Amino acid sequence: MTDIAVCPGSFDPVTLGHLDVIQRAATRFEQVVVACLRNIGKSPLLEPDERIDLLRAATAHLGNVRTEAFDGLLVDFCRAHGATTIVKGLRAASDFENELKMAQMNAALGDVETLFMATNPRYSYLSSSLVKEVARFHGDIGAFVPEVVSRRLRERGDHGS
Ligand code: PNS
Repeated sequence: MTDIAVCPGSFDPVTLGHLDVIQRAATRFEQVVVACLRNIGKSPLLEPDERIDLLRAATAHLGNVRTEAFDGLLVDFCRAHGATTIVKGLRAASDFENELKMAQMNAALGDVETLFMATNPRYSYLSSSLVKEVARFHGDIGAFVPEVVSRRLRERGDHGS
């Protein structure tokens, strides 16, 4: 039995909601590996290396968390990292339908359990796609993402204030 959890996602960009789930997973597992999907294929705001870089900076204070890129099947990533648990946040019932199917597919493909963590209500309306939209129209995303992300986007000119 291992005590390694994988927190997967596209993280385009990482939000405070993601960070909250990663932090809470880190208090319950010996190690957490954040699995950042490299090819997200849906008009990305950030290049893969930049998403990974920002995740690493945003989780630098968490000694038992590391971030790695992945492509292909998540179960293969879990196997390669010795993890049998995936941790995902659930914001609302509307998340559940798709998340349940993914959890069941991952369980069918490999020996991997998915644990769902109730999102902190403070972040239940947050998503990377909404943050991306606000950033693209130069709105202020400072309340929704780690400071390092808003700073990086501001430097790039994707962030209004
Ligand atoms: O942040 P997202 O976009 O909701 O993350 C989705 C992600 C990366 C967790 C999901 O797309 C995924 O696991 N992709 C890997 C492909 C895979 O393993 N598919 C089969 C199981 S659903």
